[in-house]
Amino acid sequence: MNKAIYPGSFDPVTLGHLDIIRRTSEMFDQVVVGVLKNKAKSPLFSVQERVNMLQEVTADLPNVEVMAFEGLLIDFVRANDAKVIVRGLRAITDFEYELQMAQTNRVIAPEVDTVFLTTNLKYSYLSSSIVKEIAEYNGQISEFLHPMVEARVREKLAVRREGEENHE
Ligand code: PNS
Repeated sequence: MNKAIYPGSFDPVTLGHLDIIRRTSEMFDQVVVGVLKNKAKSPLFSVQERVNMLQEVTADLPNVEVMAFEGLLIDFVRANDAKVIVRGLRAITDFEYELQMAQTNRVIAPEVDTVFLTTNLKYSYLSSSIVKEIAEYNGQISEFLHPMVEARVREKLAVRREGEENHE
């Protein structure tokens, strides 16, 4: 079976990610979206919340599965018996980091290849961090996120704000 792994932080999933997932699902028999439980970053959403949102927004894609992972991406790829990692390339600024990751992963696991999809021009500037920053200042984010994800971001930020106010 032709299987691809699409890994990321997805904090939260944006329409740019969703575009890559959709296109990958048309190219491969099965796609596993791997959500990194990242110890270094402090995410807005828990890994389970990120997995749940991804499952909801990909519910119409029967060959897409969403799973959390910890540790090395290559171990996750091998555990899923896949040979392809898919990453989206937005702009030249992504290139150096992506090249470094792809080449390192290839040294660790020569049987695994990384395939890059250029993001839809409509989303080429988009990142989860920028969306969160705009939302924090109550800016418009509906053009970047699925409506359900937008609602969850607003809820999460409201709860966080309440917590901060109670601490003051
Ligand atoms: O959405 P992101 O944050 O750009 O995704 C980065 C991700 C999850 C693909 C990358 O951080 C990763 O693979 N982390 C797992 C740890 C690992 O394997 N590190 C070595 C990569 S060379």
